[in-house]
Amino acid sequence: MKKISILFLIIAGMMALPSCGGGEAPAEKSTAAVVEEKVIEIDPMEQMMVRGEQIYKEKCVVCHQANGEGILHAFPPLKDSDYLFADKKRAVQQVLNGSHEEMVVNGITYTAPMPPQVDNHADAVAVINYVLNSWGNEEGYITLEEVKDIEIGPRW
Ligand code: HEC
Repeated sequence: MKKISILFLIIAGMMALPSCGGGEAPAEKSTAAVVEEKVIEIDPMEQMMVRGEQIYKEKCVVCHQANGEGILHAFPPLKDSDYLFADKKRAVQQVLNGSHEEMVVNGITYTAPMPPQVDNHADAVAVINYVLNSWGNEEGYITLEEVKDIEIGPRW
């Protein structure tokens, strides 16, 4: 009689385990933990570049073109752009607040204005970092910290 009741307790205990959630159901819990770890471990830099590419394709490609070469005399190039490479922070400022000044990019003068493109610093940094590292550009990165003092002006 004693033996039977011990056996019953073991079976009952085993049945209770998977349903009790917080208990020590070892197999199920460890699988869940691995999945969770993988989600957290996605490289933040990679995430930013994916976001940057998405913004580029959505907003910039129409003028600066899929190959980053722009349109001669109308939209300046971002690929191999001496003007862009000279000042990354200025580029963040330009996508946040637009630009309407005459500029010389790789020896060609551009005068058309560019309206503001994005409305927050994280998106501006993501798209500029994407541009700085696409089409053969290898110009490093700018951080959110470096641009946080840029004020977002009125949309136009
Ligand atoms: C409507 C067309 C248009 C769109 C859309 C546009 N731009 Fe521009 N962009 C321009 C023009 C025109 C200039 C030159 C502005 C000036 O002379 O003040 C420029 C200048 C620039 C410059 C500085 C010059 C250079 O070539 O290095 C950067 C950087 C830039 N754009 C990045 C972007 C990014 C990134 C996006 C998308 C988020 C974007 N632009 C969307 C038209 C556009």
